[in-house]
Amino acid sequence: MAKEFKFDVDAVRAQFPACELKVAGEPIAYLDGPGGTQIPQRVLDRVMKYMIEQNANEGGNFLASTFCDIVEDGAREAVADFLGCEPGEVGFNCSSTQNNANIAHAFARKFDKSARILTSEMEHRANIAPWLHMGKDGYDLQVVKLDTLTQQIDMGDFKAKLTPETKIVSLNWASNGLGTVSDVKKMIEMAHEVGAITVVDAVHYAAHFPIDVKDIGTDVLLCSAYKWFGPHVGVIYMRKDLIEELDFYNVMCEDIATGPRRFHMGTPQYELLAGVIEAVNFIASVGEEYADCFPEKLEGLSGRRRNVVAGMEAFDTYESALAKKLRFGLREIPGVTVYGPAEGQPRTPTVVFRVEGFTTDEVTKALGERGINAWHGDYYAVEIMNAMGFGGEAGGGMARLGLAPYCTERDIDRALETVRDLVAGK
Ligand SMILES: Cc1ncc(COP(=O)(O)O)c(C=O)c1O
Repeated sequence: MAKEFKFDVDAVRAQFPACELKVAGEPIAYLDGPGGTQIPQRVLDRVMKYMIEQNANEGGNFLASTFCDIVEDGAREAVADFLGCEPGEVGFNCSSTQNNANIAHAFARKFDKSARILTSEMEHRANIAPWLHMGKDGYDLQVVKLDTLTQQIDMGDFKAKLTPETKIVSLNWASNGLGTVSDVKKMIEMAHEVGAITVVDAVHYAAHFPIDVKDIGTDVLLCSAYKWFGPHVGVIYMRKDLIEELDFYNVMCEDIATGPRRFHMGTPQYELLAGVIEAVNFIASVGEEYADCFPEKLEGLSGRRRNVVAGMEAFDTYESALAKKLRFGLREIPGVTVYGPAEGQPRTPTVVFRVEGFTTDEVTKALGERGINAWHGDYYAVEIMNAMGFGGEAGGGMARLGLAPYCTERDIDRALETVRDLVAGK
């Protein structure tokens, strides 16, 4: 029998030094998580430890240098537990944008110009720009439509555009612009039926749900550690044989001829990889507390992988309830429209909205003045905002509030009160 789930948010907050900061006498409400989360003390300590005690480049016959390999291997093992893959299938660069650009470069070498590339309007520009560039170079780029009514991917359009000529299908798992979670597993299956390689942008998804890359069956998956309590590191998963097959941009030296180092564009950010290890350990440490609440989700899992999955289940359960309160609260305020998929459809705890009579800039300014961190604009989900009619500077995009496990019910109440006051002219 599963233990009753009761999330101890204070215990989580105690691990984040940023949660002690105040504006106008109140703790800052970090509802800007989709842009990047706050960092636990253990991650900060680990980065600092590397930089003070272990700082060197790899390959030297001295103590500090040996730590580079330890950290790099450790980060691969940690991410393997985070994504459900083997350490040898994980690589790192500065950002997901950089990783995607590197993959696109390799795809451009692999395929001739008759290759069709399928992406969608649901994407962050990080997962559309590489394909736009390939389109400019003459590849057949097709962009699947966003159904603006359901605010989900138009599956009819996906099926229509998925042809035997399609070689790359690159899709968003969860939208940072709408919060929509897409059925990537189904789309991957369909893409594989026509022989295409699949890339999944899980940058937003990875902050809120456990990931099992083998279960969804994708060939490539991207995520970024700064969205899940770590430093600015782009993480890439790739199926082992594809790593060996693709011709990546790298320095073409013997020591990177095989294995996941083939992804690396220069010296990895070792100090930040040390932080990635601790970010995963942080999630696992929370998961250990709540594992008994999710026994059915943890069947067959053990060790850190089990605790990571439990941790993400705990975050999802806690954040989803708060996000629901936020959505329903916002909808009760006159002039507020909340966007994203219908209630009951898969979504992240990211809430996007507009307030009649106010620009999104004015809305987030009002929130910011009260110490509530929120984003506005398009957050690089340019195609979504264009499709929804809020594109460009004139359109203003949307205002966005996103949950993280250190957010509280009080944060939500304060955000709702601020929007209510704004509308009431207070
Ligand atoms: C869905 C999504 N994809 C990609 C990115 C880009 O990630 P990075 O900043 O690591 O390039 C972001 C960043 O916000 C995002 O939300």
